[in-house]
Formats: sequence, structure tokens, C-alpha cells
Amino acid sequence: MTTTPLLSVRSLSYAYDGRRAVNDVTFDIARGEIFGLLGPNGAGKTTTISCVSGLKHGWDGELSFDGAPFAPQEDAGQRARLGVVPQELAVYEHLSARENLSFFGRLSGLRGDALDARVDAALALAGLAERADDRVKEYSGGMKRRLNLVVGGLHEPDLVVLDEPTVGVDPQSRNHIFEALETLRDGGRTLLYTTHYMEEAERLCDRIAILDEGRVVAIGTRAELAETAGIPGADLERVFLELTGKRLRDR
Ligand SMILES: Nc1ncnc2c1ncn2[C@@H]1O[C@H](COP(=O)(O)OP(=O)(O)OP(=O)(O)O)[C@@H](O)[C@H]1O
Ligand SMILES: [Mg+2]
Repeated sequence: MTTTPLLSVRSLSYAYDGRRAVNDVTFDIARGEIFGLLGPNGAGKTTTISCVSGLKHGWDGELSFDGAPFAPQEDAGQRARLGVVPQELAVYEHLSARENLSFFGRLSGLRGDALDARVDAALALAGLAERADDRVKEYSGGMKRRLNLVVGGLHEPDLVVLDEPTVGVDPQSRNHIFEALETLRDGGRTLLYTTHYMEEAERLCDRIAILDEGRVVAIGTRAELAETAGIPGADLERVFLELTGKRLRDR
């Protein structure tokens, strides 16, 4: 039996000044899964998710969300079905975590008890309850990343899109981020996760698309990717090398 994908991306292409950064990219994300976009520097990960989350105009291709045509670049209501956790931190340093969350919660229309409950849940999910009222500028890099993450999911969108959320964080914060993501998935969210860390994709993602130079090279579960590469049972590192002839960047 086939079920309707939550997000369907068909032949997505995008060019910067005539230079193609995303080239005929096609994938489906099933409801409830963590879907990984794995690729090196400049592969087109950020550009792809910017197109699907409504941050870019002028792409070619077709998007659908829950079976219906999707144009988040034109429609704020559709855009709100996704939560985006950007690669760059997008929180206010001079406010506390609680103030940041209240601010972004109000922007998405939450008020009163509903807002307070959502903010408390987000603080707990990020492991920031005890530091909730300290200014963000006093936080470690990992704490800021965790706050960035829960801000993106605060309005409880169907799909949370995360752009390399663990870059520059220590192992403890990284584990905390993984646990938060697994909690989100177990609570019914669907996640689109970009990374250049193969071990993250391996640990976290149900299915993975390998992206290189703007193209999807292969797509599937880890086992399916190894089959595609003709090396059953191999880890993602070998699969990536086999499929692209390259290593992923600095690790
Ligand atoms: N604003 C821009 N103007 C021109 N070219 C760009 C712009 N942003 C990205 N590119 C180019 O598009 C290609 C894809 O970049 P993109 O940022 O989508 O890759 P990425 O996979 O997210 O890389 P990273 O891992 O470094 O974040 C690269 O060649 C990049 O140089
Ligand atoms: Mg990027």
C-alpha cells in the first residue's frame, strides 16, 4: 500500500546568476520519518531547503504537501506548515531564552496560557529550563543551538526542517540535540535534516538522500544505499566514496 508523502519534491532546480546549485532534485518525505539530506560543502543542501520552505522564489519543479500543490514562497499559511531551524543562529542575544520563545510564539499567534505552556515545553525539550531567564549572550554555543532548534518548532509545524544543527557544538550538546529530535519524531513530527556528518545521518535518519554538486546521487535507507553502491553492508562513508568518488569534507 502506498501512502501520500508529507512533502513531495519533484525535479527541483535553482540557479544563482545562471549557475545551477540544485539540479533536478526529486525526493519524498513520509509522515513521521527523519529524512536526511547528506552532502559535502556546496552540495546544495541549504538551497534545496530554502526552496521547499518558501525562502526562495524562481525555482523550477513541483512541490506538494500532504498531497496538495505547495507554494510556500507565495502563501504564509502554507509556509507555517513548516518550521525552519536555520544554519545560522536566529535568536536574540540580549533576550533570555524565555523571552525569545515568547516573542516568536506571539509572532505565530500564540497567547496567554497556551503560549506559556508551549514555552515551558520548549525550554524542557532544549534542556534550558534552569537557565531560562539568563540572557542568551551568556550561553554556550551548544545552548544557543538548542534554543535555535526549539524556536523553529515552537508553532508545532507538521514538518521541521533543520540545517546542520550540530555544527560547532560539543558532544554533550550534540547528544542533547539528537535526543530532542528523537523526542520530536516520537511526538509525531516529521523532520528534514541536513548534515555533512555521515555518523549523524546514520544514527538519526530513517532514510537519506545523498546530494553532490546539486544532484541526488542515491536515496534510501542506509542498507538500500549500500545495495545501490554495490557494497551491501558497507557504512555510509564507503557508500559516499563509491557513489561520488569523493570524501566528505573535514570532519
Ligand atoms: N547567495 C548565493 N549566491 C551565489 N551562489 C550561492 C549562494 N548561496 C549558495 N551558492 C552556491 O550554491 C551552491 C550550493 O550552496 P548551498 O549553500 O546550497 O550548499 P550546502 O550544501 O548548504 O553547503 P554547506 O554545507 O557549506 O552549507 C554552492 O556552489 C554555493 O557556492
Ligand atoms: Mg548549507
